[in-house]
Amino acid sequence: MTELIEILTSNQGKLDSWILKNKIDAYRLYDRELEKFPAAIDIYLKKAHIQIYEDDSTANEDLLIEQIGVAVERVLGIPKKEQYFKSRRRQKEGAQYEKVASEKERFVIKENGAKLIVNLKDYLDTGIFLDHRKTRTLVKDEFAKGKERMLNLFSYTSSFSVVAAKAGVRFTTSVDMSNTYSDWSRDNFQLNALEKFNHIAIRENVQVFLENMKQSWRFDLIVIDPPTFSRSKKMPVPFDVQKDHPFLINHCLDHLNQDGLILFSNNFQKFKLNGDAINTDNVQDITKNTIPEDFRNDKIHKCFLIKHSK
Ligand SMILES: C[S@@+](CC[C@H](N)C(=O)[O-])C[C@H]1O[C@@H](n2cnc3c(N)ncnc32)[C@H](O)[C@@H]1O
Repeated sequence: MTELIEILTSNQGKLDSWILKNKIDAYRLYDRELEKFPAAIDIYLKKAHIQIYEDDSTANEDLLIEQIGVAVERVLGIPKKEQYFKSRRRQKEGAQYEKVASEKERFVIKENGAKLIVNLKDYLDTGIFLDHRKTRTLVKDEFAKGKERMLNLFSYTSSFSVVAAKAGVRFTTSVDMSNTYSDWSRDNFQLNALEKFNHIAIRENVQVFLENMKQSWRFDLIVIDPPTFSRSKKMPVPFDVQKDHPFLINHCLDHLNQDGLILFSNNFQKFKLNGDAINTDNVQDITKNTIPEDFRNDKIHKCFLIKHSK
């Protein structure tokens, strides 16, 4: 445990001035640096969200929780009652969005000029993906500039839409298959005083949404951030990002204004963009510019900027 305490202390020391300078409310402190402690530790204000990456070889999980809990309290002064532990089974298809409790312990963090509701207790994920903090900054500072209409696919709680709207995008449409996350998106819009007729959340399977979208609909900015794999009763066939990304991107190109841009991202570590199947040659891999300071794993996501061919 001494080793864990040392690494938490050192990581926190390296991040301290960045946190202060950038007024960071939520950040990743630790990401499986020690084999004995297969966990990711994220700090949200004065609370800790701790995901244990379980597999069949994970040693005594209760002991792991006890030791990590003590280390987090020792280094950050965050007491046990403000530590939220989750078990994350490796690659269990379709399980990543399961509900784990229902106590509705929500609070608000600030990021990129937006207020975002988080919940460390009820779901495996918290309401915000921290690995996309820098991507959201790019949306705010560059991609949303001068844009009027945005489409956000697989929007989750719609943090990309909120940030874009705060940066001046007038109309946003956010699509997610989950009722819970669509409601959460609407709460985020309301919290940020975004007009509800201009910023809408639609609960729908993205594949169905794209196939039924009115021919005339056009967008200036489209964000596509799908899961690696998803399966649900609401979908006739499972979604697989490696197989299905050309379908998504080509449909979006059909609805993208001439000067518009698509931001396409995913978390599949072995992902290869199928350039031959995509109807443009104007694709830029911007992954390097989107890995935040607090993420030491630069394979956390892949990110591409896609435009119409020149
Ligand atoms: C990786 S998360 C998106 C994260 C989000 N872009 C963000 O930055 O906060 C994937 C989301 O896709 C949704 N989802 C999965 N399969 C879907 C589908 N076929 N159609 C619509 N939404 C889907 C899940 O409910 C989840 O909210």
